[in-house]
Amino acid sequence: MQRRNFLISASLAAALPRVSWASTPNQLIAQPVSAQILPVDSPPTPMLGFNGSTPGPVLRVRQEDFLDVRFRNQIDQGSAVHWHGLRSDNAMDGVPGLTQDVVEPGGEFTYRLRAPDAGTFWYHSHNRSWEQVAKGLYGPLIVEEETPPDVDHDFIVMIDDWRMTEAGTLADGFDNLHDQAHQGRLGNYARALIVPDTSVQQGDRLRLRLVNVATDRVFPVDLAGLEGKVVALDGMPLSEPQEIANLVLAPAQRADIIADVVSTDQVKFIFSTSEGPYILGELSVSGKNAVRQPSTIPTLPLNETAQPELDNAVSLTLNIEGGAMSRRMMSGSGIWAFNGQSGLTDTPFHRFERGQTARINLVNETRFPHGIHLHGHHFFEAKANGDLGAFRDTTLVNSGETRQVLCVFDNPGNWLLHCHMLGHQAAGMKTWVKVT
Ligand code: C2O
Ligand code: CU
Repeated sequence: MQRRNFLISASLAAALPRVSWASTPNQLIAQPVSAQILPVDSPPTPMLGFNGSTPGPVLRVRQEDFLDVRFRNQIDQGSAVHWHGLRSDNAMDGVPGLTQDVVEPGGEFTYRLRAPDAGTFWYHSHNRSWEQVAKGLYGPLIVEEETPPDVDHDFIVMIDDWRMTEAGTLADGFDNLHDQAHQGRLGNYARALIVPDTSVQQGDRLRLRLVNVATDRVFPVDLAGLEGKVVALDGMPLSEPQEIANLVLAPAQRADIIADVVSTDQVKFIFSTSEGPYILGELSVSGKNAVRQPSTIPTLPLNETAQPELDNAVSLTLNIEGGAMSRRMMSGSGIWAFNGQSGLTDTPFHRFERGQTARINLVNETRFPHGIHLHGHHFFEAKANGDLGAFRDTTLVNSGETRQVLCVFDNPGNWLLHCHMLGHQAAGMKTWVKVT
């Protein structure tokens, strides 16, 4: 990213968004909204949102509870809502053409899903997502632990980038093939949208729920003014909290962090670009917490997961192919593909018997990184020594890399498997699996 291409200098990036954060509503209305993406002395940007704002309202449910949402579509394209990372009922997964019909303009659909796992999730449009998510059709979905960890503040930090015009509107060209064949639609302006909008004290213990909601951009994130650990990835607690250093969030990935404020003036969310640090957002620090005693960063209670049957696993390979200058693209058979196939076909990538374990090699033969997301399940990333690593729903596979994942396919239904660089998904990088 070229910093000079940003319309706004980094020091102004922390201007607060003018969005409203109502308590959990029972309906989500997709509609045109106007949002203060650029700092307040610039005009607001016409976008799409839910219930009058982008990001949409914070949805919060207790673990094991049901989320009941009536979705009403008041935009001029078909839409549907996907509950990213929720291991829930296939019929409620929100994928037009695979799990439901598209919700036409003026139409509605009632979602009712159980939230089996406590953690940080998000919801977003799953129709023309590369356009609708880019325009703002997303929001946070928080599933609360029965006993939440002891912290002074719980912040949601949604990181996004936008491609802005000089006039303060979103640039059009959502279907631009050049973007889709490269890294996707990268923005020229980025920011962390932080809620609630409040200051903190030195010595406060914070929970930070980072979500990369960008359509295509991978964000390496640095935190300044804090000391703590990563306690969960993609909504799933880590059995052992990890260092925060070298945190990278691919599109759709989340990280929960528990950390103590050590700075006396600011906590900063920094996007480390090749041209230097870019400030995504800040929390101001004022005063000192005289009550909180230092203590180790806690481990969150693990969500219940089926253990993979390593000896009995079916081995599969998913070759990730295509992109600019690839042979595939030159031959005109679609920009991106999995195993030679661009876009969805009538037959799934694989049919699993419910409960079956699979070992899948994701082989990235392309010149670009890809964030591969499986619906309805989480999977273990295998470490280099073969041990099970983090339990995620989206894994970042860099150019030339092979990532092995282990998944217990225990959720019946038809589930999408796709790149969450949404421009890549638009250009064919998707398939599906069937679990019966
Ligand atoms: Cu975040 Cu197929 O979705
Ligand atoms: Cu991709």
